[in-house]
Amino acid sequence: MTVTARLLAGAPAAEALLADAAARAARLSAPPYLVMVRLGDDPASVSYVRGKDRKAREVGLSSTVHALPETTTQAELLDLIARLNADDRVNGILVQLPLPAQISEQAALHAIDPRKDVDGFHPLNVGELWAGRPALRPCTPAGILALLDHYRIAVAGQRAVVVGRSHIVGRPLAGLLLNRDATVTLAHSRTPDLGAVTREADLLCVAVGQAHLITPDMVKPGATVIDVGINRVPGEKGGKAHLTGDVHPDAAQVAGAITPVPGGVGPMTIAQLLANTVTAAEMQSG
Ligand code: GUN
Repeated sequence: MTVTARLLAGAPAAEALLADAAARAARLSAPPYLVMVRLGDDPASVSYVRGKDRKAREVGLSSTVHALPETTTQAELLDLIARLNADDRVNGILVQLPLPAQISEQAALHAIDPRKDVDGFHPLNVGELWAGRPALRPCTPAGILALLDHYRIAVAGQRAVVVGRSHIVGRPLAGLLLNRDATVTLAHSRTPDLGAVTREADLLCVAVGQAHLITPDMVKPGATVIDVGINRVPGEKGGKAHLTGDVHPDAAQVAGAITPVPGGVGPMTIAQLLANTVTAAEMQSG
């Protein structure tokens, strides 16, 4: 089968975003400083945080990782966040999710100073986003907008369908697309006849975490498809496990443009986090 869609690779768009962030960082009196907090040893979280830390240093930011034990209490975590809030050297704070069961995610996210909230998960920043005002914006959704802009794909006036209503991706992505004058539908796992909804989309964004939920027949011919899913599927007959998206690869024969998995949205998330850290540092210096 042949791929006819334009492939929207994340790497060149991420490089452009990072170059811009590095240039802005260089105009500040000190390198922007990102502090990440990780609890426990979940392999995905260890790998994500390591990748963010490495990239931060590569582009000239300062970065520290606090790797705390799985058994850390909520009081201990809140105490650390309070110290990071009070430390003027720290521009950005990220608490890696998911958190262990003894800690309320809401309590942790509410505790972060909204001006240092480089994830954009604090309710004040969530509210600003939905009010259509500038704020620190969640990294994956803002990275998707940067990817679309890099490839000069129009958002205004488009019919956008977002599948998935998570606080990290689906909900804020719907808000950002709305702020850019798309006509937005937010669909999810309980949407009846999902295909009838997704086939309406000029711009289809999928963030559910279910391999190949979206089959080619659910895609409007010529649509732009953004696949946020990163699903690990075991290899057949002892073969190597591999990563695949929420969208079936054959959708590339129907779509006009599509992000690959891996190598599509993933690099944008990290680049946007570092851009957010520079934005936070700029806001705090002004
Ligand atoms: N876990 C998965 N994605 C994210 C993210 O964007 N930010 C944080 N803090 N944790 C995550």
